[in-house]
Amino acid sequence: MSGKVENVGILAMDLYFPSQYVSQTELEKFDEVSSGKYTVGLGQHKMAFCSDREDINSICFTALHRLIEKNKIDLHDIGRLEVGTETIIDKSKSVKTFLMNLFTKVGATDIEGIDTTNACYGGTAALFNAINWVESSSWDGRKAIVVAGDIAVYGKGPARPTGGAGAVAMLVGPNAPLVFDKGVRASYMTHAYDFYKPDLASEFPFVDGKLSIKCYLSALDNCYNLFCKKMRRTDPNFKGLLSLDAMLFHSPYCKLVQKSLARISFNDFLNCPPEEREKLFPGMSAFSDYKLEDTYFDRDIEKAFMTYSQHLFDEKTKPALHIARNVGNMYTPSLYGGLVSYLISKSPEQLVGKKFGLFSYGSGLASTMYSMNICNDMSVGSKLATLIDSLHETVALLDKRQGVEPRIFSEIMENRTQNYHTAPYQPTGSIDVLFPGTYYLINIDDQRRRTYARKD
Ligand code: ACO
Repeated sequence: MSGKVENVGILAMDLYFPSQYVSQTELEKFDEVSSGKYTVGLGQHKMAFCSDREDINSICFTALHRLIEKNKIDLHDIGRLEVGTETIIDKSKSVKTFLMNLFTKVGATDIEGIDTTNACYGGTAALFNAINWVESSSWDGRKAIVVAGDIAVYGKGPARPTGGAGAVAMLVGPNAPLVFDKGVRASYMTHAYDFYKPDLASEFPFVDGKLSIKCYLSALDNCYNLFCKKMRRTDPNFKGLLSLDAMLFHSPYCKLVQKSLARISFNDFLNCPPEEREKLFPGMSAFSDYKLEDTYFDRDIEKAFMTYSQHLFDEKTKPALHIARNVGNMYTPSLYGGLVSYLISKSPEQLVGKKFGLFSYGSGLASTMYSMNICNDMSVGSKLATLIDSLHETVALLDKRQGVEPRIFSEIMENRTQNYHTAPYQPTGSIDVLFPGTYYLINIDDQRRRTYARKD
């Protein structure tokens, strides 16, 4: 393929979340924890979940098919299909190969890409693979699709209210309305046992909650400082958070995201020349001698910078939390649910020319901060409006979901746990409750092969 590839980014996107949820207020009562622990302490409102009718293949298929149908995508125009997930049902066969069912029907089999896994980071790695392919010498002129999906479930205990489920599908190619900045991705990768899934017979992770928060915040510090350094290479006036119109985060729970925005302000404070600190950060000078690594759980710093950054949070981050608050942690799609939420909070005219920062974190750990611009080229203006209209339609489904009482939710979780490794297996979850167009599991045979159908 010859010619210069311009404005590589997201051309279209869509989202899937399950049709059932449990209220966090009701869950607080059911779990007999103090009132406000999940809703105020974690900042969560509702948590989506799946019965045994859905698995990682089905939720990714639902998101992919929705994207293809709504955007009338020609399957022969797709040259790469990437999946990011940490929900593993087969150790060797990728979810991508299952998604090929849609393409093989029309004879489209020349499609690169497989699955990428590292906790909540796999979706971002899959997206980077797709962008890199379009910008590479291997590109043949077709588009790429990235699907990120997970079913986030925890055993009974404090982590359970931080679950969720969902999938996002993104069409990637040139001349896009959402364009990725080049040469500024800032990564921080290291080894940590903060959250991992060593028990392959269980859907639940091993999680060290406090360590995972420390790892998340330390990854954020590292990525943010490196990202600012890289941005200043091309724009010496880049002022970090103040130069970004929106700052989006991977969202395990909304309170951590608000603390993360405050953490960025704390980094800006420490990086500020001492003579300007009092002017730019009035009343904060007592924190001048602190070191980042000593402050992950420092209440005074957290409180001071959450107060300082409240208006920045309201403007740049809070609009991105609508789906996270109402669905929960979707793992790999969580950051992209944030992007969807932010996009539908504004009109296309308000978005044109804006710059977003994005922070992706996956335990273990892998993390990157990167940025995207909303293209101000008028020729892509209608693509942006179409993308946002289509997302409004999907997000409206949040209000059409069925609320389920915690006792039933707990029974459904118990049923998933008991049968996670059963074969042959006939799922019993309701099909009636699913949204039209949802794929669901019909059967797992004695060779653990799965068959599915689509709800009319
Ligand atoms: N009203 C208001 N706030 C309350 C109340 C109440 N009644 N009760 C407790 N809280 C607050 C606490 O003060 C605490 O606030 P803080 O975070 O500002 O300290 C918050 O609610 C949580 O309560 P804790 O008792 O500290 O924590 P808990 O033991 O319940 O566990 C945790 C929380 C660690 C987040 C747990 O849910 C977990 O392990 N989740 C999974 C791991 C995770 O999401 N990690 C994040 C990054 S990794 C990833 O994405 C998976």
